[in-house]
Amino acid sequence: MDPVRNPYAPGAGQRPPELAGRDKQLTAFDIVLERVARGRPERSVMLTGLRGVGKTVLLNQLRSAAVSHGWGTGKIEARPDQDLRRPLASALHMAARALAKAHRNPERVDDFLGILKAFALRATAGKSMRERWQPGIDVPAVTGRADSGDIEIDLVELLMEAAALAGDIGVGIAIFIDEMQDLGPADISAICGACHELSQDAAPLIVVGAGLPHLPAMLSASKSCSERLFGYHRIDRLDREAADQALIAPAEREDVKFSDEALEALYRKADGYPYFVQAYGKATWDQAPATPITAEDVAVAAPTAEEELAVGFFGSRYERATPAEREYMRAMADLAGDDGPVSTAAVARELGRKPASLSPARDGLIKKGLIYSAERGTIGFTVPHFGRYLRSV
Ligand SMILES: Nc1ncnc2c1ncn2[C@@H]1O[C@H](COP(=O)(O)OP(=O)(O)OP(=O)(O)O)[C@@H](O)[C@H]1O
Ligand SMILES: [Mg+2]
Repeated sequence: MDPVRNPYAPGAGQRPPELAGRDKQLTAFDIVLERVARGRPERSVMLTGLRGVGKTVLLNQLRSAAVSHGWGTGKIEARPDQDLRRPLASALHMAARALAKAHRNPERVDDFLGILKAFALRATAGKSMRERWQPGIDVPAVTGRADSGDIEIDLVELLMEAAALAGDIGVGIAIFIDEMQDLGPADISAICGACHELSQDAAPLIVVGAGLPHLPAMLSASKSCSERLFGYHRIDRLDREAADQALIAPAEREDVKFSDEALEALYRKADGYPYFVQAYGKATWDQAPATPITAEDVAVAAPTAEEELAVGFFGSRYERATPAEREYMRAMADLAGDDGPVSTAAVARELGRKPASLSPARDGLIKKGLIYSAERGTIGFTVPHFGRYLRSV
């Protein structure tokens, strides 16, 4: 089939031609938006799941939903070893700019921007002039609020001000945080504290986070985090119906069909993981000589898809690991029959080492986002089918 018209989009954060199987989350989010804007108590939202299940694209879709409700929005991608203050200031700046268009009182908007600037300038306080960062907010800083230097205090004050600004015009603000597991403990604690205050006040500002499966455990380990602060949505692989939909709907728009056997074969290959659905869909499309696409086309295209996944999805991650970390993952792969979590004690036994001597490798892998600690004393791969991949290299 014409590769130019190939609709499928494998790739991190790539918007899929059809966002399949996420109606439940989208509907739930619309309700959250409506309730928050009306001052009803609501919880902030956390999306969790393995690599490639579609957290980022869902987060982006939720952001579009908030924008279409007239909300102010901003997005952050957390990175290890980076403080929240600077990226958060930029995200809120963007949200405030969106609100400014609808706000009748420009002085109030400027007042908020002044507070935001003081908050932002704290990121580089004490640094030399050359290292100083200019937040690009063209109003004078308003000192005295959100600029104590203690992120926990400043975040509550800043977000309450932001919420009030949105409340003036009957909307809200949503701050989206991707890769949230990469935030440091102080920032996590500050967010929990701020969300707590916001929800107690029914203030119209929510945080929408996305992260790996251990994000809920990370949040609840934070001292300022109470059990019921966040609504969690586990983002998982697509069921057969949704995976078919992800393939069929974009093809239909190009007048292309799949045979039932082709869909069956594609589901067996992709296992419902959205990234894999896109990868196999793309390779199969390029391979197929004509519509309808057949199971034979899938079989011929599969090695191409697998090669591309080996480089783009698995290999790029594998390369980040040190030799010791690779050895650790190999042992995990040998133990995990499929991809399931394995106990850290079993990994140590497999390698003939003391568990404590393996902590650096394990911690390194967690920090790199390749494995996560599941239930007590167990770890799993964050990348689906990673065990299978490791056994093949
Ligand atoms: N609901 C869906 N239907 C069809 N395709 C999807 C869906 N969700 C995601 N995809 C596709 O899956 C791939 C991965 O999506 P995305 O990058 O959002 O995953 P992720 O969970 O954020 O992964 P990571 O943890 O690596 O950041 C993309 O190619 C995207 O187009
Ligand atoms: Mg992502």
